[in-house]
Amino acid sequence: MRLKNKTALITGGTSGIGLATAKLFLAEGAKVAVTGRDDSAFAAVRAALGENALVLQGDVRSAPDMRAIAARVKEDFGGLDIVFANAGRAFPSALNDIDAALYDDIMDINVRGVVITLQAVLPDLREGASVILNTSFVAQTGAHGISLTAAAKAAVRSLARSWSYEFLNRKIRFNAIAPGAIDTPLISKWGMSDDWVRERKAELAKVIPVGHMGRAEDIANAALYLASDESSYVVGTELVVDGGASQL
Ligand SMILES: NC(=O)c1ccc[n+]([C@@H]2O[C@H](COP(=O)([O-])OP(=O)(O)OC[C@H]3O[C@@H](n4cnc5c(N)ncnc54)[C@H](OP(=O)(O)O)[C@@H]3O)[C@@H](O)[C@H]2O)c1
Repeated sequence: MRLKNKTALITGGTSGIGLATAKLFLAEGAKVAVTGRDDSAFAAVRAALGENALVLQGDVRSAPDMRAIAARVKEDFGGLDIVFANAGRAFPSALNDIDAALYDDIMDINVRGVVITLQAVLPDLREGASVILNTSFVAQTGAHGISLTAAAKAAVRSLARSWSYEFLNRKIRFNAIAPGAIDTPLISKWGMSDDWVRERKAELAKVIPVGHMGRAEDIANAALYLASDESSYVVGTELVVDGGASQL
């Protein structure tokens, strides 16, 4: 029960990494709120998380949405000890294909959404809170065909460092997690065929030093460490969980 008596908000907690993290945080004793946009998934998410979890609709790109979510969490939980700013998407983005709409999409979800999320919850963060930002190993390596997503995640990694300074006086720790290639629904949302998705995943697995994609639970375990008091001396870092992809 490493998160006993703690409260947590996980954006993008209705799928993949966020959902696996919500399950683990609940099992470790936390009260958990998750957010997502697509409420058709909410019944299944509520069934997976149980009746004690809050499942809230909102778009991280919308300040009013995130303020409403923060207000609801404050009402139910009183304050926040943990925020996992996890909502994000990866889009194919070869240089020649980047137009204004694609640029805004990628930057709004992955960067602006993190800023809006943190601004909404800041007043409710308790002293000693842990904030975890979700980046990506591609911010370190570069990534063929998804340059803007990689650049957006590099910006988020930078925010974790700067915000760490800003909140030292409130003893609020900011850190990042950089997932490697993790087997979640993320790539399936690109609108390609099931065969195409299977082939890409098989190709990805071949270039990962450990020989396979990661599981959402691998990232949840890292998030648990950064959320718990075990990491109380860890500030401004990026914990890379990528099967060696960016490190070997
Ligand atoms: N999977 C990987 O290989 C990988 C690698 C590196 C980094 N990451 C990062 O890990 C995070 C989670 O990804 P995942 O793999 O778990 O993907 P996922 O299964 O597609 O989950 C993404 C979650 O984010 C939510 N979301 C997306 N856009 C949103 C928005 N504008 N407002 C609110 N919620 C939004 C989704 O909810 P809705 O569907 O309702 O919008 C969903 O709950 C992302 O930041 C991603 O960039 C993933």
